[in-house]
Amino acid sequence: MDWGMKNRIQRIFKEDGKTVMLAVDHGYFLGPVSRLEEPRKTIEPLIPYADSLMVTRGMLRNCIDAKYNIPIVLRVSGGNSIVGKDLSNESITVAFEDAIRLNVAAVALSIYVGTDYENQTLTNLAKLIDEGQKYGIPVLAVTAVGKELEKRDAKYLSLSCRIAAELGAQIIKTYYCEDFEKVVKSCLVPIVIAGGPKLKNEFDALKMAYEAVAQGAKGVDMGRNIWQSQWPVAMISAIRSIVHEKASLEKVYSLFKSLKDKA
Ligand code: 5RP
Repeated sequence: MDWGMKNRIQRIFKEDGKTVMLAVDHGYFLGPVSRLEEPRKTIEPLIPYADSLMVTRGMLRNCIDAKYNIPIVLRVSGGNSIVGKDLSNESITVAFEDAIRLNVAAVALSIYVGTDYENQTLTNLAKLIDEGQKYGIPVLAVTAVGKELEKRDAKYLSLSCRIAAELGAQIIKTYYCEDFEKVVKSCLVPIVIAGGPKLKNEFDALKMAYEAVAQGAKGVDMGRNIWQSQWPVAMISAIRSIVHEKASLEKVYSLFKSLKDKA
């Protein structure tokens, strides 16, 4: 692996090989989703706690100051919306030159295995990886499920993750599921987990992150379960202690509660 590619990956994954990525790219298909109506207000207080930010170029240029020295993972796929016919019909939405201009640490794109747009999204991924190889920019593949959240099982996610890795993705973002260990073991590259829609309570979200890391995830790339919480700073701090400090779930939850009480 060349120096530029290595350096970008190491900016995202810290010295312990783990990462807390903060996902705020949701607007590309969800529009002004709750708590991201005014992105700056939500995101700025969380930046000191995140190892990288996953954003769209619109969000980056309009809502994130260039003064922040935080690695950017740029969402470069999209082209449909939550009210449209099919979320899986995605295209590449950003020219690679623009990603370079934005000084990104990685680019991110969704694949939709098993859908009518499987071939399109997988060849999009392959093309993006070729571009990434040219310029030393890693690609994060999101094994998306669209509205079909029930697809999140080890059989489906192992298939999607392995295909993305075989096509050359350097990082994979997937969902936590039962038997998650199997997904991690058969994937050739580091996996981070998405949080998915906001869970019933913070404990459930922390437990999910804890179990994912215990079963081999190299960290998280979470959004809604952090910034849709009433206590987002307490949440991301607790998640940091799961990812970087190997804290027990008990300790993590009491950290969350004490930070929440102070907030
Ligand atoms: C959808 C995405 C999202 O835009 C986002 O990054 C997911 O984060 P979370 O589920 O934790 O809110 O990748 O496929």
